[in-house]
Amino acid sequence: NVRMWEHPATQANMATLKQRGVLVVEPDEGPMACGEYGPGRLAEPPVILAAIEATLNDGPLKGRHIIVTSGPTHEPIDPVRYMANRSSGKQGHAIAGALAALGANVTLISGPVSIPDPPGVITRHVETAREMRDAVQAALPADAAICAAAVADWRVESADQKLKKDGSGQPPALALSENPDILAALSVPGPNRPQLVVGFAAETEKLTEHATAKRARKGCDWLVANNVGGTGIMGGDENEILLITDAGVESWERMNKSEVAARLAERVGAFFA
Ligand code: CTP
Repeated sequence: NVRMWEHPATQANMATLKQRGVLVVEPDEGPMACGEYGPGRLAEPPVILAAIEATLNDGPLKGRHIIVTSGPTHEPIDPVRYMANRSSGKQGHAIAGALAALGANVTLISGPVSIPDPPGVITRHVETAREMRDAVQAALPADAAICAAAVADWRVESADQKLKKDGSGQPPALALSENPDILAALSVPGPNRPQLVVGFAAETEKLTEHATAKRARKGCDWLVANNVGGTGIMGGDENEILLITDAGVESWERMNKSEVAARLAERVGAFFA
């Protein structure tokens, strides 16, 4: 139950257990039999199984903590409307699952998506860019961070009440302000910087040029670039990417998002090996 779980006594006991090295399968978030809502549901058996497998797994990422962001963010306009984008979360979620399969402890910070949480991964659900930033900060420290989320660049100065037509025929002006850049903040050198920071670039033209510039601007180590202008990438099951690292630009053939995820996870494994 959410209240029992969030009670300071329970949290203090959990902290003690974690300090002693006990591995915790966190409760699921959702509606409970008693009618309350929040973290307090028994984790699904596949999630428990995946956690056991990850513990016994001697994969190359064993003992590494990796943060993955995924999905879009929703920026409220008023209590009933929001601004969003077409990201489905499929690529980010697949990456989180692939890293866990190689033994990593993965914290997935997901914007609103309609796909299930990947098994074997701790998933935190957020709505806005600022909530995503806070959840990423709270999940640090980490060995690596992979920012696959399509974070909204701007947020709207949200109205407290539903915006109404005023009869003048004039649409309301939406005042936008820039959202915090989660990837750029993670990439700033310092004691909390993950050893490997991977960004994504969603571009609709001049892919290599824009993505190379974006990697330098954001300060991340690797950048996965995809052309989202074409059909079937954003929201689809396949992806066609460029991987930009210090060593240069690699072009990967079009493949399923789960294959992209597995290959990228292998590369992360090789990095830490
Ligand atoms: N990103 C982020 N926080 C933001 C915006 C973007 O963490 N507020 C991250 C994304 O998760 C992605 C990378 O930055 O890893 C690039 O996102 P993208 O939308 O392609 O780039 P922008 O920062 O929006 O740059 P531009 O407007 O030039 O396309």
